[in-house]
Amino acid sequence: MIEYKKYKIMEQKNSVYIATSLDGKIADANGSIDFLQSIPIPAGEDMGYAKFMDSIDALVMGRTTFETVMAFDHPWPYNKPVFVLSTTMKSVPPSHEGKVFLVAGPLKSILEEIYAKGFHKLYIDGGRTIQSFIREDLVDELIITVFPVLLGGGASLFGEHETPLSFKLKESNVFANEIVQNHFVRDRENYRS
Ligand SMILES: NC(=O)c1ccc[n+]([C@@H]2O[C@H](COP(=O)([O-])OP(=O)(O)OC[C@H]3O[C@@H](n4cnc5c(N)ncnc54)[C@H](OP(=O)(O)O)[C@@H]3O)[C@@H](O)[C@H]2O)c1
Repeated sequence: MIEYKKYKIMEQKNSVYIATSLDGKIADANGSIDFLQSIPIPAGEDMGYAKFMDSIDALVMGRTTFETVMAFDHPWPYNKPVFVLSTTMKSVPPSHEGKVFLVAGPLKSILEEIYAKGFHKLYIDGGRTIQSFIREDLVDELIITVFPVLLGGGASLFGEHETPLSFKLKESNVFANEIVQNHFVRDRENYRS
């Protein structure tokens, strides 16, 4: 069992960097993320992505998000290890061996396994994956980029969870005069209803 104090001593951090619609969806009813292209972004503006990627050691993503990235019409975008949560995938595609690693089981055991390999700052990606981390209060930082569109249906970033969790706003930025990015850090000292 991982204790919170141990996290702090080892400087472990689980971060979410994700884009949502105004109604909190991360993909539309067809599973598409085309809404991320709905606002023209000035060339060279990456909305903090490169800086964020520099700050992490590895990624932990759900199988659906892995399949989405695999289907992109461009080369594998990550230069850090990617741990894919799945109970159904039996092996990593040969093209991705050495870059992608399958993990399954209780989240805290998975995290122990990843930390033991020397990766302590993790990018947590994928809707159901983020929700399962939230359910166990394992998210330390949320960077949420909100696009001004209401998608109606689709996958929600946050589902139901039993215990309210407080976060503090660290920073807020606006891109292309339309897109708001809020950076929250988990506030484990306080609960404000
Ligand atoms: N807007 C954005 O910035 C953004 C970012 C990332 C993803 N997306 C999109 O959002 C959608 C995400 O799909 P999703 O909600 O299905 O999420 P997901 O988290 O990517 O994948 C869920 C899958 O992960 C596996 N899994 C194994 N253990 C798990 C655990 N403890 N907790 C959660 N999942 C576990 C399961 O796969 P098995 O069935 O194999 O066991 C589960 O079906 C995709 O359409 C993706 O393209 C959008």
